[in-house]
Amino acid sequence: MSSPTVPARANDILDLLDPDVYVEGMPYGQLDELRAAPVTYFEEPGLDGFWVITRYHDVVHVSRHPEKFSSWERGAILRGRHMDPDGEAESLAQQRLMMLNMDPPDHTKLRNIVQKAFTPRTIKRMEDRLRELTDDIVDRAIAKGEGDFVTDIAAELPLQAIAELMGVPMDEREKIFDWSNKLIGSEDPDFNVSPADTQEAAGELYMYASELGAARRESPMGDIVSTLVTAEVDGHKLSEMEFEMFFLLLAVAGNETTRNSISHGMLAFFQHPEQWELLKSDLSLLDSAVEEVTRWATPVMHFQRTALVDTEIGGQQIAKGERVAIYYSTANRDPEIFDDPYTFDITRDPNPHIAFGGGGPHFCLGANLARLEMRIMFETLATRIPNIAQNGETRRLRSMFISGIKELPVRYGT
Ligand code: HEM
Repeated sequence: MSSPTVPARANDILDLLDPDVYVEGMPYGQLDELRAAPVTYFEEPGLDGFWVITRYHDVVHVSRHPEKFSSWERGAILRGRHMDPDGEAESLAQQRLMMLNMDPPDHTKLRNIVQKAFTPRTIKRMEDRLRELTDDIVDRAIAKGEGDFVTDIAAELPLQAIAELMGVPMDEREKIFDWSNKLIGSEDPDFNVSPADTQEAAGELYMYASELGAARRESPMGDIVSTLVTAEVDGHKLSEMEFEMFFLLLAVAGNETTRNSISHGMLAFFQHPEQWELLKSDLSLLDSAVEEVTRWATPVMHFQRTALVDTEIGGQQIAKGERVAIYYSTANRDPEIFDDPYTFDITRDPNPHIAFGGGGPHFCLGANLARLEMRIMFETLATRIPNIAQNGETRRLRSMFISGIKELPVRYGT
């Protein structure tokens, strides 16, 4: 692979792969500098580097051109320093069984199996049930008086919603919670410390999925697991491993992301009390508030693609085989698109944020579900515990992939 020559080295601005730089908060100052560059190269000693794509239009361009920027070639997940480099080839082969790491047309076939469960119409049918679940969650929080918003509130609804959709019995959802924390928080010492722990969590999750799959094969129940184990692609059923990877993707993708959006949203309301007052006084703002919360939070910082051809982004030549990392976090603060991008404004209109992806085939499958969950949660909080208040310092997740909040102490004043 030819070594790229560019004036701006991303490393001189920010060590993007160091999870510690995100612990105190998103390093937006440096991310702005990267965007001004606007395309920089990140060098990682001993490994291939990657191009850093930070401008909104460039992230959208990469997302919408899978024929030029592949998810399959090197996977869609940017490898962190905690991952074992020797295991890359083996892990890539396994990752490629998951639709996140596929390109059309194979990607399309897998996505079509579950697409129907996530259409606006199907998701709308969950609304009453989601409201019941939310009321129960908030009842329990009120009874406690005070606690951690992340575990009591923000984590619960996404977990229960996805458990319900997948057909995971409610009393077993805690297992999913623990496994997905370990998988996503694999750089955070609170969750686990070694690649072996991550592998163990994944192994347990696969085993669980396999048992649930076997039960649903025997007697299908109309949930997603039943859909997956009975589906056929090109006349074949999914292999056991394909099914387990699908289960892992749905269980993890739907959990951490929505949880962090809700937590970041609540924190933003604490930091901008006039916006909380505004929402409480006018619930017709709920939809635009949800969009602004999602832009503000941008829980998924980035994904990666690999160039399939020699091409160009923002005036920079990108050679076939080179990787690009698309940074949603900074694209969602691009002043070319968003007026006053660092202002949290629940009336923002238009708000074409790309926290769910920049469009194209991998656009977040769960966006309709996530939006509905957030809408119901903030409506319920605003009406039932309007005086909720922060009660201590937040602790952020140590991760270079997910912008996460681990703890947000609150008082649930009614
Ligand atoms: C606020 C919450 C959420 C955020 C910010 C979010 C963000 C994202 C992003 C950035 C992508 C990649 C898009 C791309 O490459 O173009 C994605 C893909 C995906 N999301 Fe979400 N997501 C959220 C909630 C959910 C939920 C609730 C589910 C439910 C299962 C879900 C399931 C998925 C799946 C399965 C994919 C892969 C789609 C594919 O490869 O075709 N997400 N999400």
